Amino acid sequence: MINVQNLTKRYGDLTAIEDVTFNVQKGEILGFLGPNGAGKTTTMRILTCFLPATSGTASVAGYDIFEQPQDVKKHIGYLPESPPLYTELTVTEYLRFISRIKGIERKDRTEALTRVLERCALTDVRHRLIGNLSRGYRQRVGLAQALIHNPEVLILDEPTTGLDPKQIIEMRQVIKELAGQHTVILSTHILPEATAVCQRVVIIHKGRIVAVDTPDTLSAQLRQSEKIRLTLRTPSPETAEALKTVPGVVSIFQEPSTDGQVFMVECELGRDIRTELAAQAVRRGWGLLELTAVKLSLEDVFLQLTQEESKQEEPKEDALNGEPG
Ligand SMILES: Nc1ncnc2c1ncn2[C@@H]1O[C@H](COP(=O)(O)OP(=O)(O)OP(=O)(O)O)[C@@H](O)[C@H]1O
Ligand SMILES: [Mg+2]
Repeated sequence: MINVQNLTKRYGDLTAIEDVTFNVQKGEILGFLGPNGAGKTTTMRILTCFLPATSGTASVAGYDIFEQPQDVKKHIGYLPESPPLYTELTVTEYLRFISRIKGIERKDRTEALTRVLERCALTDVRHRLIGNLSRGYRQRVGLAQALIHNPEVLILDEPTTGLDPKQIIEMRQVIKELAGQHTVILSTHILPEATAVCQRVVIIHKGRIVAVDTPDTLSAQLRQSEKIRLTLRTPSPETAEALKTVPGVVSIFQEPSTDGQVFMVECELGRDIRTELAAQAVRRGWGLLELTAVKLSLEDVFLQLTQEESKQEEPKEDALNGEPG
């Protein structure tokens, strides 16, 4: 349904995305996961024909984004980062206006409107001014305008940003229900969101794709180790060495801290060594202040992926840097 081949976009010296290649199957929800500035919006704007690429090719719903942009736009619904809503119109007025400019025939407009109002849970607020709606409801209006012409493909740029937890759950539910009938690409910088909503995830970092897989496989691959944060009031100079001898410990590194000394203990996956660490800390009188299992953050995921990438691609550079450990 969506085919992206070697897309690159440069702004002068700055490469926003480089050599981006992926596919989305019909009916699938694909997550585009990456931190700020990764190139998510750039990719989405190229696929929706709002921005020309520097090189590469892509097709959406069978149409080439460079040769047939009008056809692509007809088959796509796009929710931009900040949807351009007309705040002085009511929800119904605005959506009727959109249905007209999207070329829905007059006789079909009321049905289309009723359908999206219901689907996006907007029926109750349909006569209110958009300018008076809360952020979450405006986001739903944004989704409604993307859906109104019942497009095969939906491109949603951070659809849950700025919503409260309840609205996030509702928005995710709406998006999940689109799967099957619609093909969806949604961007997010939140790992659990990608896991909760998407069947497959593309991780993009600094404009390059670093991984494409199902959420389960990705997290299994990425979680080859676990980390424990150990804060000690009175460690000895030998503490780091002593910690390394605890069975299951892979590595230790110290972090600066104002309250005690923080040791990050990386240990083998599935091996809970917290009790052993606590026992050691007490026995040796290190003044145990805190002991917590650290969840793998998106940053850790990226760090792991990008480090692995540079190891594979540029083995010499690692050797040159010569970082100990
Ligand atoms: N018009 C532009 N001119 C110059 N550089 C740009 C322009 N638009 C985007 N960029 C740069 O391209 C890179 C990718 O930006 P993009 O907006 O695609 O990231 P993103 O993944 O959507 O980030 P965010 O999570 O913050 O929305 C960034 O380094 C950004 O500064
Ligand atoms: Mg963006």
